[in-house]
Amino acid sequence: MTINNRPVRFAMAPDTPLLWALRDAANLTGTKYGCGTGDCGACMVLVDGEALRSCLITISEAEGRFVTTIEGLSADRSHPVQQALVAEQAIQCGFCTPGIAIAAAALLKSNPVPSEEEIKAAVPNLCRCGVYPRLVSAIQRAGRALRGHERISAAPAPGVSDADAARAVPAMRLPKGGASD
Ligand code: FES
Ligand code: FES
Repeated sequence: MTINNRPVRFAMAPDTPLLWALRDAANLTGTKYGCGTGDCGACMVLVDGEALRSCLITISEAEGRFVTTIEGLSADRSHPVQQALVAEQAIQCGFCTPGIAIAAAALLKSNPVPSEEEIKAAVPNLCRCGVYPRLVSAIQRAGRALRGHERISAAPAPGVSDADAARAVPAMRLPKGGASD
């Protein structure tokens, strides 16, 4: 499959949940494990542009498809959804945030002016910290930014760089052809 624009081949059992492959083999730990049963949405990734729960998809079902995780939503946290979530302070512990950002990005792609009800329907993710009211304003603000009606300053860089994280995990080292095993 292609993950974040990079060809990846997993040498794992075909019925391995995509979530495990992303987190444990590919070191893409931005995608979170919340419930493992399809209820919370913390594990959402884009699969061919659709926000899906990666705990419910096997790697064989994802074979040949284009997967985007939170790490691939933008190279530098500049996606308007990421910027708006920070700007509206719609994040507390942050555990649910990657899945929410993925669901919101998929929604805004098809509907850049979503109503509150449309946001609630398209972003059903659970948040134990209860950021729901701020989520609505953040996603609507991201929609305005995507339409060029507003500028939001970039979200701050995380404490650990992608390169540093990858150095510690052999699975993420690029072999000579560019593909990762
Ligand atoms: S971990 Fe997949 S929906 Fe909760
Ligand atoms: S911000 Fe803590 S679970 Fe949502």
